[in-house]
Amino acid sequence: MKISIINGPNLNLLGQREPGIYGNQTFDAFFEELQGKFPQVTFDYFQSNIEGELIDQLQQVGFTSDGIILNAAAYTHTSVGIGDAIKAIDTPVIEVHISNTFAREDFRHTSYITPNAKGLILGFGMDSYRLAVQSFL
Ligand code: DQA
Repeated sequence: MKISIINGPNLNLLGQREPGIYGNQTFDAFFEELQGKFPQVTFDYFQSNIEGELIDQLQQVGFTSDGIILNAAAYTHTSVGIGDAIKAIDTPVIEVHISNTFAREDFRHTSYITPNAKGLILGFGMDSYRLAVQSFL
């Protein structure tokens, strides 16, 4: 099974960015742990702060991967283009968020991803990604 993880803007700063909300772990350290937990899965990982690059990556892996785990970060709440890209590809997408976006500011309660995603997992910290992998398995 091949699973692609795509992270959006500012998630390159995990570990140092607002640790009270997002925790102390870097994504690289978490990704290593995740790969260790699921040796039967082939993972690839992509992060960008640029909306168009996230769309390019969805198109790139969206016809060959078995599953995509997408944390579009702030673009979740603004990007018609990322929502359309999910509709345009074959691979099912699970939307994840580290924080519980519904317990935060009102603008985080809107998602252009959710209507097009297979499912949504949020609020479990980095474990949201692990639960998404588990759901694909
Ligand atoms: C986030 C939630 C978003 O609202 C925010 O813009 C992020 C991270 C999360 O994982 O909790 O950058 O997607």
